[in-house]
Order: sequence, then structure tokens, then C-alpha cells
Amino acid sequence: MNIRDFLARQAVFINHAIEKYIPKGIPEKLFDAMAYSLKAGGKRLRPILVLESAKAVGKENISDIIDIAVATEFIHTYSLIHDDLPAMDDDDLRRGKPTCHKVFGEAIAILAGDGLQSYAFELISSNKSISPEKLLKTINLLAHGTGIYGMVGGQAADILHEKEKAFDDIEFIHTHKTAKFIQSCCQIGAVLADASKEEEEALSKYGLYIGLAFQIQDDILDEIGDEKKLGKKTKKDKEKNKLTYPSVFGLEKSRKMAKEYIQKAKKEIEILKNPQILNEIADFIISREV
Ligand code: IPE
Ligand code: IPE
Ligand code: MG
Ligand code: MG
Ligand code: MG
Repeated sequence: MNIRDFLARQAVFINHAIEKYIPKGIPEKLFDAMAYSLKAGGKRLRPILVLESAKAVGKENISDIIDIAVATEFIHTYSLIHDDLPAMDDDDLRRGKPTCHKVFGEAIAILAGDGLQSYAFELISSNKSISPEKLLKTINLLAHGTGIYGMVGGQAADILHEKEKAFDDIEFIHTHKTAKFIQSCCQIGAVLADASKEEEEALSKYGLYIGLAFQIQDDILDEIGDEKKLGKKTKKDKEKNKLTYPSVFGLEKSRKMAKEYIQKAKKEIEILKNPQILNEIADFIISREV
């Protein structure tokens, strides 16, 4: 099976799990907004990376960590809802549909994002199969990768650059807004699979490098990608004066840099038991059109 078909099949698996773990018994409009953005589609790359990282170090039964994988998608979907808000990137289209705030209004969209974020941590801390120590480490890694030391810090730098030219360190922005979250997903997979310190470190570095390449490819696709396939508006970064790899280095050099990060990522995981799928995911990241 080629990697695209494999990822599509895994995404279907994650979609079923999302159905199972989606919170119930909450105000209807809040639920509708959360469900709308969650079910609009998406590659489900972060939960897939949690599961495939665990498998790569030898975990065979992943049924006890699916809720944790789903939690990463809840956080990712929150980040997209907030990223699209008028005060942030001001986007009308996401995953091929009108953005959450366009359909439900800004207040409910903000709250849907907030709700998805805190519920993700509720879900992880409610897992009854994994030891408390490992859950604590998972929560710590995820909070670190997505909070002020990771995604939130990077998103702030991205916005401060756009609005005030206050930040001009592109590697800082991309590392923090995107790579650190992806890094945490890979490291969480390692922790949950009882990986050795060496394996955990390898997966952590792999995640950081593919995360950087992922955002470089996102920047490239914003310039040359197909709006229909991507399900989001292209050529927005220039319009918004975003600091992107193509804007700093040009398209060719950006492609080369992304490729170098992918090579570094693959080198890191040579020591793992089953690195094959992760190698293919790494290659997919820079060849993807979506
Ligand atoms: C988009 O993420 C936002 C970035 C961090 C670049 P994805 O490209 O993973 O979006 P979906 O989940 O597939 O829609
Ligand atoms: C990544 O950057 C966004 C997040 C960390 C949520 P972008 O703003 O470039 O993502 P897209 O292009 O809108 O998906
Ligand atoms: Mg953004
Ligand atoms: Mg955006
Ligand atoms: Mg983008």
C-alpha cells in the first residue's frame, strides 16, 4: 500500500475515534461548532504520528492510547479555529468549508477552540489504561509543545511580525508555531510505548525536523498550491506580510531546506525497530499537495 492510501485509511480510523470521544452533553451551539470543525476533514497527521511513533518502537496494541491520539487532533483543530479568526489570519475557508467563526460567530468560535483545548487534557487525564506517570509526562509534553514554549509562543511571534515587524527570526516562528507540537506528538508516542531514552530522543528530533519541513511545505503550498485541493485560500501569506520560507529564501531554496530537514529526520530514526512508515511519512510531508 502506498503512503497516501495508508494515511487515508488511518485518517478514517481517527475519524471514527473522534466520533467516539467527542464530548457530549454541552450547550448545543458549542457542540455544533466543535463538531463542525472537527468533522470538516483534515489529514489527521498529529494523531497518526502519535500512533505510528509508538508502533515504530515496538508497541503492537495501540487500543489503549487512541484517546490520547484523538486529543492531539482536538488541540490541532482548536489551533486552526483560532488561527483563522479575524484578529489572527482572518480566513474564510478551512478544510474546504467556511471557517468556524463564519458559521457560528466569533464568540462561539473562540469558545469552541477553548473547549477543544481543555477537553483534550481532560480526555488524556481520564485514560484508565496508561500509568499516571506516563499520562503526566504526556500532558507535560503536549502542554509544552502547544503552549507558550511552543505553538502559542510561535503564533504570537508570527502575528507580532505581521502587525509590528517585531520578530524576524523565521526559524523561531516555524519551530514554535508548528514544529514543537508535531515534535511532542512523536515524543508522546515514544513515552506511551515505553521507548528507551535513545529512542525517545530520536523520535523527538524526528518530530522537530519533520515539523519544520511541514511548515515550509505549508508556506510553499500557500504560494503555488491548489486552493481546491487544499481547502483553504492560497496566496494569503504575501497579502498578510507573513514571514515565510519562500518570502525569505525563495521557492527553490525553501524546497531544498525542507528536503534537508527530511533527510535529517530520517537519519534520526535509523535506530528504531520499525522506522519504515515514519520514513514514508517524512517523504510525504514534502511531496504533499494537501
Ligand atoms: C495546517 O495544518 C496548519 C499548520 C500547522 C500548517 P494541517 O495541514 O495539518 O491541516 P489539516 O489538519 O490537514 O486540515
Ligand atoms: C500555522 O500557520 C498555524 C497554526 C499553528 C495553527 P498558518 O497560519 O500558515 O496555517 P494555515 O496556512 O492557515 O493552515
Ligand atoms: Mg497563522
Ligand atoms: Mg493561517
Ligand atoms: Mg499557511
